[in-house]
Amino acid sequence: MLDKKISEANSGFNSDILKVNDLKQLEDIRVKYLSRNGLISKLFDELKDASKEEKPLLGKSLNILRNDVTEKFNLLKEKLENSAGESEKKPDLSLPGIRKVIGSKHLLTQTLDEVKSIFKGLGFSIMEGPELESDYNNFGALNFPVDHPARDMQDTFFITEDFLLRTHTSPVQIRLMNKYKPPVRAIMPGRVYRNEAISSRSYCVFHQVEGLYVDRDVTFAELKGTLVSFARQFYGNDLKYRFRPSFFPFTEPSAEMDITCYLCYGKGCRICKHTGWLEILGCGTVDPNVFDNVDYNHEEYTGYAFGMGIERTALLKYGIDDIRVFFENDFRFLKQF
Ligand code: DAH
Repeated sequence: MLDKKISEANSGFNSDILKVNDLKQLEDIRVKYLSRNGLISKLFDELKDASKEEKPLLGKSLNILRNDVTEKFNLLKEKLENSAGESEKKPDLSLPGIRKVIGSKHLLTQTLDEVKSIFKGLGFSIMEGPELESDYNNFGALNFPVDHPARDMQDTFFITEDFLLRTHTSPVQIRLMNKYKPPVRAIMPGRVYRNEAISSRSYCVFHQVEGLYVDRDVTFAELKGTLVSFARQFYGNDLKYRFRPSFFPFTEPSAEMDITCYLCYGKGCRICKHTGWLEILGCGTVDPNVFDNVDYNHEEYTGYAFGMGIERTALLKYGIDDIRVFFENDFRFLKQF
């Protein structure tokens, strides 16, 4: 009888102790098994009723049980006391907090967002095209003659004879006009590539925003009005501007738009190469040959287009003098904006 009770007490204790999570529960276990009125004491009391032959063996078993239970109890007690100490140490509310670094948008993304939102306000929608482009969309359809220097290997990253990394966002104009009938009015932001030596002024990859508006009776005056409105919102109301005649194969007539130099306010300095002016974009009315290439009737429709570099736009607005900082991602530069 008693030997059965001893082994039941042993397995009971072993399963009870597994459920203990804290010192309070452990104390309940001590009371149940090891206290003066506990189970093990009671079993020792019962020893006196055992027969003479059984007594030594049962006594031994009971001693083993008591030692085993005591040892396991002490081990767990020590462990729980230590971890209780640790968790008490953890939250020291008097320590200064750890400041998390909050990220922000890259200056180029901020600039692009601002340009997009101004043109959205002027009635333009947004379209994008692929960076891998056909030679035809990038040059041919835009009225570049076959021997135009821009097609030269030195400027263009050719992938195959017929495909290349687009050198400007103007091919998205072609995609837009091939997809939609007039009227169309959209800006087309994106990344472009040129095989140029890297310096403070040029980089092999940069961003442009293209613009196109085609409808009946679109005039050069409307182009000027739109671009001046953009420039005033982006660079400031007091800005002076001018349009200079220029040449692009896909616009006729073509122009470049300048604003007064932000650094010297027109007096002439290093940044504006002593002219007092900074070029901000190229533009013009769409060449009829381009309309022919996309099956738009050039007798019926006219349009204007423009294109600007986003890095250049940001350089001018924020007075940065090296284009490479946009791509190096030096935290000390980025966190200023
Ligand atoms: N694609 C020209 C460039 O990369 C920029 C440009 C000029 C775009 C005149 C136009 C435009 O749409 O009308 O230099």
